[in-house]
Amino acid sequence: MKQLKDFTKEELAAFEADAKKRYDEIKNSGLKIDMSRGKPSPEQIDIAEKDFEKVYPITDYMSKSGMDCRNYGMLSGIPEAKELFASLLGVNEKNIIVGGNASLELMYSFIAQCYTHGIGGNEPWCKQGDVKFIAVVPGYDRHFSIAEYFGIKMVNVRIDKNGPDMDKVEELIKDPSVKGMFCVPKYSNPDGYTYSDETVIRLAKMKPAAPDFRVIWDNAYIIHEIYDTGDELLNIFDEAKKYGNEDNFVEFCSTSKITFPGAGVSAIAASDANIKEILARLTVQIISYDKMNQLRHVRAFPTVDDLKAEMKKFAEILRPKFVAVLDVLDKELDGLGIASWHKPNGGYFISFNVDTGSAKYVGELCREAGLTLTSVGATFPYKNDPDDRNIRIAPSYPSVDELKAAAELLCVSAKLAAVKALS
Ligand SMILES: Cc1ncc(COP(=O)(O)O)c(C=O)c1O
Repeated sequence: MKQLKDFTKEELAAFEADAKKRYDEIKNSGLKIDMSRGKPSPEQIDIAEKDFEKVYPITDYMSKSGMDCRNYGMLSGIPEAKELFASLLGVNEKNIIVGGNASLELMYSFIAQCYTHGIGGNEPWCKQGDVKFIAVVPGYDRHFSIAEYFGIKMVNVRIDKNGPDMDKVEELIKDPSVKGMFCVPKYSNPDGYTYSDETVIRLAKMKPAAPDFRVIWDNAYIIHEIYDTGDELLNIFDEAKKYGNEDNFVEFCSTSKITFPGAGVSAIAASDANIKEILARLTVQIISYDKMNQLRHVRAFPTVDDLKAEMKKFAEILRPKFVAVLDVLDKELDGLGIASWHKPNGGYFISFNVDTGSAKYVGELCREAGLTLTSVGATFPYKNDPDDRNIRIAPSYPSVDELKAAAELLCVSAKLAAVKALS
């Protein structure tokens, strides 16, 4: 297909007229779709509910440790839940803390701890003047919000299909005020990229100038495959141990998108030293997490294979949704040179880049016609996409028909924006 920039004046006018006509038709059709957040659909949640029903009613709340899960105790989690997460993350049980329903809360608390009390015996970040974090962009808005909340300055580092730009990361960590970075190493939010072996090894080898540098290794999409052949990610702790760097990483995950968002179970994996410090803080913060929920989860999903089997059922629901969006993008925009995207093998998002630098305008056009997207800019710190290019598409919640309509609207909006940018 001819690129839009090579269109003659007449071709461009016809292209614009067609896009405008279709845009008006969609706008007048009363479309109302919310694609702003990556939420599992009601069908997925119903499937999870059925899996729990198999083990209901639970009459025996004894953990295998002999402890009553209805009572206080076992701050780091019940042994069977620790085993499950240890096996999922490929670490020893002693390096696991099982938390409450949200990994984000564990991440927030960890950063708060570093900020107010320091980590690894170092001065609290709040006493060290300006502290900075590497923000891998585009990225997850809620990571950026945590850093912003604590006044941690963020420095953007671009991601591509191999992961973050490691030359830039290796340069930035020479600055002792750079204290960490957020990574979503598998099926990154929003691009769906999985870090290559080389990237993981370079991260594992890092010797940052700051002794209190910590990578938030947010493995939120660890088994969230959409296709049978998913991506492979190296185990960060296996790699980091080779260089004596296991303290640099704190890994997080949860079952939010395996069982219930808001009612799942989260976990931290970290080195002996980090676990010791985190537990010392948790002892002050909470008596114990919801062990009844931990027990429900391990009874319904005793092994990692059981969790993976659940994800296969979800993939059957998610795949047609991703395919619906990607097919429309291909059909409408491929070859025009006005937008680019990547087809992920898993995760929850498609990252759509408007190469003409008019993402905000596209977002506005979509909103006016009834489609709510993740607010444009949110995939960058301070909600500022310097190139005004990135739009996060979250296909998990709407139906396939809604997604086709939404993707069509997005494409005609991108076409209108591209014509405007050219003129
Ligand atoms: C990368 C990433 N991390 C964490 C979360 C939130 O996880 P949780 O529900 O465990 O707090 C999300 C949710 O979309 C996410 O995309």
